Amino acid sequence: MSATTTQSLHERYALRVPREYKNYINGEWVASESGKTFDNTNPANTDDVIGTFQESNSKDVDGAVDAASRAYELWRLTPAPKRAEFLYRAGEILKRDKEKIAREMTREMGKVLDETKGDVQEAIDMAFLAAGEGRRLFGVTSPSELPNKFNMAVRAPLGVAGLITPWNFPIAIPAWKGMAALICGNTVVIKPASLTPLAVIMLAEVFEEAGLPPGVWNVVTGGGREVGEPMLKHPAVKVISFTGSTEVGRDINVACAPSFKRVHLEMGGKNCIIVMDDADVDLAVDGALWGAFGTTGQRCTASSRIIVQSGVYDQFVEKLAGRAKKLRVGNGLDANVDMGPSVSASQRKTVESYVKIGQKEGAEVVAGGNALTDGGFARGFFHEPTVFANVTSDMRIAQEEIFGPVTAVIKCESLEEAIAVGNSVKYGLSSSIYTKNVNSAFHAMRDMETGIFYVNAPTIGAEVHMPFGGMKETGNGHREAGVAGIDVFSEWKSIYVDYSGALQRAQIDTE
Ligand code: UN1
Repeated sequence: MSATTTQSLHERYALRVPREYKNYINGEWVASESGKTFDNTNPANTDDVIGTFQESNSKDVDGAVDAASRAYELWRLTPAPKRAEFLYRAGEILKRDKEKIAREMTREMGKVLDETKGDVQEAIDMAFLAAGEGRRLFGVTSPSELPNKFNMAVRAPLGVAGLITPWNFPIAIPAWKGMAALICGNTVVIKPASLTPLAVIMLAEVFEEAGLPPGVWNVVTGGGREVGEPMLKHPAVKVISFTGSTEVGRDINVACAPSFKRVHLEMGGKNCIIVMDDADVDLAVDGALWGAFGTTGQRCTASSRIIVQSGVYDQFVEKLAGRAKKLRVGNGLDANVDMGPSVSASQRKTVESYVKIGQKEGAEVVAGGNALTDGGFARGFFHEPTVFANVTSDMRIAQEEIFGPVTAVIKCESLEEAIAVGNSVKYGLSSSIYTKNVNSAFHAMRDMETGIFYVNAPTIGAEVHMPFGGMKETGNGHREAGVAGIDVFSEWKSIYVDYSGALQRAQIDTE
């Protein structure tokens, strides 16, 4: 964790030397019209500069959207199985470079190497899933109510897709959105989170090597106001897909309403694991530990509440606290580390402030509770894995998304109570139950108001071929990944072919 350690990790992993990265527009690497740049640093050690990135503005967005609009005319007419070939190639390149890309991602956003490898794997899976979709993109054929008439509904692309992506899955989420958009025949302008521009630039490098035609994939780095907002307002951008906070998602929805842009929103979560008296408690502890502290708790799907039935509550709390205290915190590139830093100073500050709020509310810290600021931790944004016990469902730490290594254990008496507590939040992304009773599992499966549900597994771990997204204030009715992702990036076009040679009037000439 010292500067020397960071140095030796750099040498061991042959990490990139910091340099200036450009926007990727129309197949060229170009500087921003603003002439301004920003530096991005490693959250495990801010002395480690990842690189200098373009602080772009609306002119860059205009340039990227123009390029994407021009490319769209060719791309939409490229047969989908041919479009797929680029995605297969991209998947192969990602596979080849998985380790290398993952290391840079750990360095850029902090989560441990195993997890960034998983992040790249998710992009690989998505590339191959979308590529396979190139020979499907199934529509509907259906009989006509009239003779000598043929009905079908096909999927049509929308045009330029604007993607606004988060830092917690810096390559998986751009791939979820981007691969689905591309296979449908859309072209893309993507604004990566300012904390993880390199991951999306690396993805652009992959597409470039895969030979994707110029203008089909464009990257503009910079802030939400300067880059995101102009994308929302640009008339040629036909769909916006955003992953981030519910607050920003609401603003995006409002900003896009006047132009009727399609908006796909993937927002906050306050996910819960329910642990019943009849559960395998050790398995539930394993799940809670992984669900709460994987990605330093910075997943929308993080298990930030554990609702435990009273018969196993004490045992569960003791075991979870014991295991949380043993987690090794540090630089995610170090093989001995279980949990990396928060992504930024402000994210860690949020964590610290919620720990204080929880204590004030009367919850008990049974593991962690402190920022780690000494010695090797001094240059990073580390915080202990923190477990609160004696939490009640009305407390802010049981209601609000923290997005950090903090989980709240809540005692309950029955399945009905657990489900009511589970549903008492404004979000509805993911939930789970640990039980050996199939009836309890099916009740919870039916009644939990979440878009994702797990049995005997934590709230994280979605796979790319399944719809991903949430109910209530987590989403706006769309899902991404799987076929649901194809729905976001295509429109239905119903086509009727009358080959009777006569005028046939639907609903009238049918008697
Ligand atoms: C997110 O939490 O933002 O299911 C995405 C999971 C991952 C994706 C999470 N496959 O936890």
